[in-house]
Amino acid sequence: MKIIVLGTGYVGLVSGVCFAAWGHDVVCVDKDASKLALLRQAKAPFFEPGLAELIKETAAAGNISFASSLSACISGASLVFVAVGTPPSQVDGAADLSQVFAAAAEIANTADAGTVVVMKSTVPVGTGDKVQELIATIRGQDDVAVISNPEFLREGCAIADFMGPDRVVVGTENTQARRLMLEAYKPLVARKVPFVFTQRRTSELIKYASNAFLAAKITFINEMSDLCEKVGADISDLALGMGLDGRIGPSFLNVGPGYGGSCFPKDTLALLKVASEAGVKLSLVKESVAANQNRKSQLAGRLAALLGNEMAGKTIAVLGLSFKANTDDIRESPALTMIADLQAMGAKVRAHDPAAMPLAQKALEDVVFCADPYACAEGAAAMVVVTEWPEFKQLDFARLRAVMRGNVILDLRNLIDAQKARYHGFVVGCLGRPAGLRQENGADAAPSSTAGVEVNVGSHA
Ligand code: UDX
Repeated sequence: MKIIVLGTGYVGLVSGVCFAAWGHDVVCVDKDASKLALLRQAKAPFFEPGLAELIKETAAAGNISFASSLSACISGASLVFVAVGTPPSQVDGAADLSQVFAAAAEIANTADAGTVVVMKSTVPVGTGDKVQELIATIRGQDDVAVISNPEFLREGCAIADFMGPDRVVVGTENTQARRLMLEAYKPLVARKVPFVFTQRRTSELIKYASNAFLAAKITFINEMSDLCEKVGADISDLALGMGLDGRIGPSFLNVGPGYGGSCFPKDTLALLKVASEAGVKLSLVKESVAANQNRKSQLAGRLAALLGNEMAGKTIAVLGLSFKANTDDIRESPALTMIADLQAMGAKVRAHDPAAMPLAQKALEDVVFCADPYACAEGAAAMVVVTEWPEFKQLDFARLRAVMRGNVILDLRNLIDAQKARYHGFVVGCLGRPAGLRQENGADAAPSSTAGVEVNVGSHA
């Protein structure tokens, strides 16, 4: 089957490469000449584990090619996936659909009759109707179907998510389009992955509702973490105890510095805009957005509290700049908010990230970028772990102590072995634990593991 994918961002490129890996004949289209040049050399234009290898494999197999315009490649395509960006408008947070409508116009002018246009970009409910109308108006006839197929992949594990999703959602009532989608996703049909066929509008809303729900779930656990700190409870055990309830589930209950990335912050705002236009109050989503912003803006204050509220002139080592591990994406990263606030308090910031430094260098000023955590820690009064990169779990605390001026570590992911760090003389602040924000030393450190918790899943059968 010939498939076109418009847009080579995370969603577009990963989808295109995965469809190609499943044996389809895929053309990825993008206007960005520098991206195309990289892709044509079988190189990935952004960091995503496994992506470069899969581009190489599918290009070598002749299943994928790259083009700068639709007109040269659209003929004979059964499905045209639209995966262009829908960034938040600077004015009111609504999704900016200009790239979607530009793509629709280009499709209208070039597609064969019977082509199916699949909206994979995250778009507000009703966008499919508008795209269908625009294409029909330009063509003078309604011979191109527009359907919705939101994508749920996460950065950092995008290929595994695309190839093994929990479900595939398809919004269409057109039987030919439905048949083509089952053909495109044949390996998933064979593996009995659930397909949710629904109306186009419902499909569009499923994506926003899913992201908003997950954002609210994270916000809930983050607020519970604050409560744990105040009342002497432990967030790890609390999340474990909650998550084992099958109705709640264990995922997305990891406490952290607040959610970031290109989706949750943008999609929650866009959903609120859709709801307010419809006259519906989504109070839970609204509160999640506010609480998450508030959480990010309190991070520097947490560190200041550990340093006796004296930040001016101090050097702070920041470990992790991406919004989460296994990506170089820094969009809406809590690290950026924290660094700006630390600088405003008069601190000098040194930073290290295994993947995000090239992008961070363009976005941040007056930050010293360092090749590894130990270079980053040199002369620092405190170190903050903001992103849960696996390598930060293995820090050599003796080596850190030797190069740091101070002895404070703030762990915003509860990642490091706090007891080990305390043994080496560090004062450790973590999240949602009785001693989370109290100054401590090796002698009075409270156990921070899940000691005493026994989980015996399945033993009651
Ligand atoms: C998200 C959705 O998960 C995905 O389905 C959608 O297609 C795009 O948006 P992504 O932004 O790549 O994916 O990352 P995700 O793993 O969902 O994490 C989002 C944010 O939440 C990150 O900042 C992460 O650190 C944070 N998070 C996630 C937590 O703080 N705690 C958790 O338990 C999970």
